[in-house]
Amino acid sequence: MTRGPEWLTFRRYVAVTTGMALTLISLGIYTAATGAGLACAQQWPLCDGGVLPQSIPSFIEWFHRLWAMITGFMILGAAAWSWFGRDRIASRTRYALTLATVLTPLQAAFGAITVTLNGALPGGYSAPVHAAHFLTGFSIFALLTYGTLLAYRGRFSRGTLSRIRVAVGVGLAGLVVAWALSRLSPVIAYSPAVQALFYAASLATFGALLASAMWLNERGEIAAPAAVAAAATLLFVGMVFGRDIVLYTAAVRFVNWLVFALATALTAGAAWSLRGAEPEVERPVYGSTDD
Ligand code: HEM
Repeated sequence: MTRGPEWLTFRRYVAVTTGMALTLISLGIYTAATGAGLACAQQWPLCDGGVLPQSIPSFIEWFHRLWAMITGFMILGAAAWSWFGRDRIASRTRYALTLATVLTPLQAAFGAITVTLNGALPGGYSAPVHAAHFLTGFSIFALLTYGTLLAYRGRFSRGTLSRIRVAVGVGLAGLVVAWALSRLSPVIAYSPAVQALFYAASLATFGALLASAMWLNERGEIAAPAAVAAAATLLFVGMVFGRDIVLYTAAVRFVNWLVFALATALTAGAAWSLRGAEPEVERPVYGSTDD
């Protein structure tokens, strides 16, 4: 039996799937922000009475669904590979990918309800359903990111401390970029394209903070991983504030400011705590370090 091309490893497959999920969420945000949510004549799985969209807004919604379908099969493939492939995959990776796979049809169902299931559910296009669709989408992304980080354990060419420094630096820079693209920004209008970019930047930053927390924890640190984990949680709250799930009053806007300021301060504190840290002697977990 052939094993496929050398470059096609489990960890790379999962990483690509995670990147596709990040893109999918940004596409969903763009769909919502452009007001194209009900564009396919409220139909699902068809669009505009057929398979192909008949207008630009319909195309936007249809493309989100198409990307969701491809990503959904990729997620299923990742879980199947983790259970039935030849590689020895850690059980936590398997469970994370399996949970992401279980959530995916639920997410498609929320999407179908959002478009009112061909008019059968007139109240489907509503804030609670949007919130469920957003939260489930985020959960799928978080599980895939966690699975990717676990799949790469012991496969990095850089040492843990060096990786932590890069991840914390990316987290810190990412928080500033996310803030600049958020609805708090004093200079950039919160247009549909900016909203999509805000979520792409925030999700990537969330990934960097999660990586920092996991690797700091591996080093036996206590305060620093807790700080970056708290920053990641606050960033998630910032992402929720970016949708119209909550009424965006002046008080909520103030809390939104606090959320970004606190997340940035916590991440900066973790970065500060790393000054003068000594690299540890690395013990590879599974063998080769080729990424
Ligand atoms: C894994 C699969 C999917 C993910 C991760 C995903 C993610 C998202 C996200 C994050 C949003 C933005 C929600 C918001 O504004 O807060 C969105 C919007 C949307 N999604 Fe999905 N989605 C998926 C599958 C689907 C499917 C299968 C449909 C089928 C109809 C769908 C239909 C929609 C629609 C219509 C919107 C716009 C809602 C609005 O106008 O407010 N999604 N999606």
